[in-house]
Amino acid sequence: MWSAFVFTSLAAFSAPPSRVAKGVARDVSPMAMKKGDPLRGRELIDSERCMECHGVDGQGAGHPNGPEGKFAKLAGQHPDYLLKQIRDFRSGARKHDQMAIMARSISDEDVIDIAAHFALQPVMKGEPGPINELGQRLYEQGDAARGVPACVACHGPNGKGVPGLTLMPLVGGQEWRYLDKQLRDWRSGERRNGADAGMNLAARNLSDADIEALASHLAAQ
Ligand code: HEC
Ligand code: HEC
Repeated sequence: MWSAFVFTSLAAFSAPPSRVAKGVARDVSPMAMKKGDPLRGRELIDSERCMECHGVDGQGAGHPNGPEGKFAKLAGQHPDYLLKQIRDFRSGARKHDQMAIMARSISDEDVIDIAAHFALQPVMKGEPGPINELGQRLYEQGDAARGVPACVACHGPNGKGVPGLTLMPLVGGQEWRYLDKQLRDWRSGERRNGADAGMNLAARNLSDADIEALASHLAAQ
């Protein structure tokens, strides 16, 4: 059942497989956006203050103990995914007060340039730690008995993405508390801006311990 779900969801989220196979998926994503200007993007993250929370290089800039620690890393993230998130914050489809204000203060064109800057930064990288067996197993195999899909199908080996699937975010090397919060928000439905509720279904049957294990596994990549 899960494989059928993943298959249909993948088809809905991205380009038809035949076109992916030809390597043109980056041009056929639903957002198919113009090429951004990373130099203008670099100026905007200063003037629009994105760097205060996300860092100039997109590696996150929070204080370790505050809620600021939940700032997302943006370095190396797919530009299409970033643009979708900003549009969702702007429309309220994804709820977050600070980011709604930020998203409403910039245009799509600005976001495309900002995303081009972050896409050129060294890809987000975590602190390698001891292997988290539960997190690794759930990530790579899921748990069919409990209806947990294998995350790797959509987020790629080590959470580094699947080439061509530009609306599937990189999650490997992302900040631990940000991952933990997002997985809880998907589970509770607080966040439900994904296509076909795929992430809500993926997180629905995760326990707190599963979420912490997955966050530890991913934050170490
Ligand atoms: C005051 C701090 C702050 C500022 C300034 C800020 N952000 Fe954010 N941003 C956040 C937080 C916190 C989140 C995580 C929201 C959540 O928990 O869902 C976030 C999330 C995001 C995301 C979603 C990332 C993902 O992986 O889904 C994007 C994209 C983003 N911010 C872009 C920007 C841009 C572009 C700017 C500048 C125009 C900006 N942010 C300015 C705090 C900030
Ligand atoms: C069917 C495909 C699919 C599967 C399976 C899947 N995901 Fe996702 N995931 C997505 C998509 C698509 C998004 C982005 C949705 C949006 O905001 O547009 C996402 C978003 C996320 C995010 C938020 C990233 C960010 O930057 O905010 C996390 C964390 C995440 N997934 C982790 C997981 C984990 C852990 C699993 C396995 C339990 C999993 N995913 C299984 C497709 C999938």
